[in-house]
Amino acid sequence: MKKIDLRSDTVSWPTPQMREAMATAEVGDDVYGDDPTVNALQALAAEMTGKEAGLFVTSGTQGNQVSLAAHCGRGDEAIVGFDSHIFNAEAGGAGIMSSIAVLPLQTDGIGRLDLDQVKKFIRPDDPHKPTSRLLCGENSYGTKNGAAIPVDYFKDLRQIADDRGLSVHLDGARIFNAATALGIDVKEIAQYADSISICLSKGLCAPAGTVVVGTEAFIHKANRARKMLGGSMRQAGILAAAGIISLKDMTKRLDVDHKHAKRLANGLSNIPYINIDPSKVDTNLVFFNLKDNAPLNETEITHRLKNEFDILMGGTYGSGFRAVTHYWITEEKVDKTLSALKTILN
Ligand SMILES: Cc1ncc(COP(=O)(O)O)c(C=O)c1O
Repeated sequence: MKKIDLRSDTVSWPTPQMREAMATAEVGDDVYGDDPTVNALQALAAEMTGKEAGLFVTSGTQGNQVSLAAHCGRGDEAIVGFDSHIFNAEAGGAGIMSSIAVLPLQTDGIGRLDLDQVKKFIRPDDPHKPTSRLLCGENSYGTKNGAAIPVDYFKDLRQIADDRGLSVHLDGARIFNAATALGIDVKEIAQYADSISICLSKGLCAPAGTVVVGTEAFIHKANRARKMLGGSMRQAGILAAAGIISLKDMTKRLDVDHKHAKRLANGLSNIPYINIDPSKVDTNLVFFNLKDNAPLNETEITHRLKNEFDILMGGTYGSGFRAVTHYWITEEKVDKTLSALKTILN
């Protein structure tokens, strides 16, 4: 396909190997627990993250929402980053669907909560207050340039949770990108979280689905929440077959996407009127914006990229551009994007 789609890694379509595996997948009714391919995917995700069990859900949003619902009861509170996906981009689901109070706190330049603030905001046992129950993290951190947060932070967060009797949920939509960028096994991050939600349909190329991992008891509760949220599927092995390839193979090549993101960021830094700090690009998300003296605005540039060059770019609401590399973005496509922007901004 000629189009260069940099809006997100969610636009990545399944590989030929995935399509083949999907066509031949052994299936059953997953609501009865009978789908061998779903069961294999769940077991693989649990094994790779060092957890007891896994649960295949429809999306990253649903992975976070079933996790919150499994950890928290009505009136319990979860502490989250104010710019995290859970707080900012899940339609207020925790409050609406599960009666969970969500307390958003500031994050630093790479998406970490201030841990002194976290300690301060864990509630005393007071009838005026919600009951603090859960601390949430995200890695890589989407709104902070896809930053890969080092594990020390999660170790400290875990310690606070243990000291205060809380649980930790990690939105690991792109946890394999984070682990790749940090040069560590995903288990090293996973060990500090009680539950993790891992997207298969972003940089890992599956057509749909996320897998949540945790203890058997947690997954038992999450399964009920999945049912309540309408996410229990039947012959879902057709999707899980692609997810198995995501975990086994696609997790091993994310360094290529990161290299392409760096190439894009370095190239952008040499184009007049563009503001970018390539040193902030850890993973596959590239954020940049325009200098004040740029001859065109973001919307005009986005339209010209699309109409003249068949290039789609994300995030043009006056707050900058987002370009995301993924399996289908080759080095050649990165270079074509750079040359299109050079032409437009000449
Ligand atoms: C960090 C993060 N968490 C969760 C999600 C939700 O995933 P989905 O779009 O599959 O619901 C996204 C989606 O982009 C994300 O970036």
